[in-house]
Amino acid sequence: MNVTVRGRRRACRTVDFDTAINAVRLIDQRLLPHRFVILPFTDYQKTARAIRDMVVRGAPAIAATAAYGLAQGARAFRGRDLALFGAHLERVRTTLAAARPTAVDPANALRQVLESMRQGSTVAEQQATALAAARAFADASVAHCEAIGRHGLPLIQDGARVLTHCNAGWLACVDVGTATAPLYAAQAAGRPFHVFCDETRPRCQGASLTAWELAHQGVPHHVIADNAAGHLMQRGEIDLVIVGSDRVLGRTGHVANKIGTYTKAVLAHRHRLPFYVAIPLSTLDWELRDGGEIPIEERSEDEVLGASGAVTTPGRCSSSSAARPGRPAYVRIANPSSHARNPGFDVTPPELITGIITPVGIFKPRELWRHRHRLGGPA
Ligand code: MRU
Repeated sequence: MNVTVRGRRRACRTVDFDTAINAVRLIDQRLLPHRFVILPFTDYQKTARAIRDMVVRGAPAIAATAAYGLAQGARAFRGRDLALFGAHLERVRTTLAAARPTAVDPANALRQVLESMRQGSTVAEQQATALAAARAFADASVAHCEAIGRHGLPLIQDGARVLTHCNAGWLACVDVGTATAPLYAAQAAGRPFHVFCDETRPRCQGASLTAWELAHQGVPHHVIADNAAGHLMQRGEIDLVIVGSDRVLGRTGHVANKIGTYTKAVLAHRHRLPFYVAIPLSTLDWELRDGGEIPIEERSEDEVLGASGAVTTPGRCSSSSAARPGRPAYVRIANPSSHARNPGFDVTPPELITGIITPVGIFKPRELWRHRHRLGGPA
């Protein structure tokens, strides 16, 4: 998507690869919305750490990062022995796959790249194939998001007021975004609409990332406190909800997404509002048979006990688009002696979901398995 940095408008992807220095290039999302910085990660361990530390986050974005990380690890191998190369690749794969456990996209991306590499019969051939396959994964992810936009466009009626949770925009993908794709399609079609961004405690990806994206694309929006959505629904101020996902079970239609998604689905159901989940094909898990089996990442309690941001004066917040950001800071909010639980994701059951917006169409969650041949699932 286009970003304006220091007065210059430029097209930008969340994840890219620099062949000259064998580096994965990532927008440092920990600094947004206050600073826009792109960093090179020069070996696969650093790339895995960037995923774990959330320099890059969002299921499709960490999948593309893992795919490039595998190519990066493969390209760094010196030697011709295929057995040694295979053992090295397995170390690279497990390091990247372990960085964040809930999203299935990285595992799917790594499998795709490794499958493509098997076409090569020498180390050199496999190294070359690895980068081509990683690029193909990233490009397909963008194409999937564009197709989600086409299928989701009819859901955004004139004047629609849309609630979204966390960040399932272009920063969470390689480009375009999943939940945001129908919105950008509606904007391109000249349709007026308004977005409510859940702030999404504890890391506030809605307030910091989705709001930043929408502001840069000129989409009218408000950030709301996570607790405000029920009130707005009750007052008839929200028409539909669209979120992304980290793992959708193809067999059952269960949806894992950022903590708080389940709460919003329950609220939408209570108020008879449509609740949609937008995903590329890499988010489908065809193996697990129950939502309870999805691994839920537990993150540091510091995220809940305090908040990170940039120092500013509260009164200046409302006009701060031109204000210079202050220094980054973490402030403790909770009682000093208290501890916290911090599950990063939750699982929404299929009965609370109106439809899954995919690159090949919109499906009821329980219909995914029946349509698995169209969705890249097993035979
Ligand atoms: O912890 P995060 O920021 O990686 O969580 C991101 C989300 O939960 C997104 O909604 C999800 O990955 C879908 S992104 C298209």
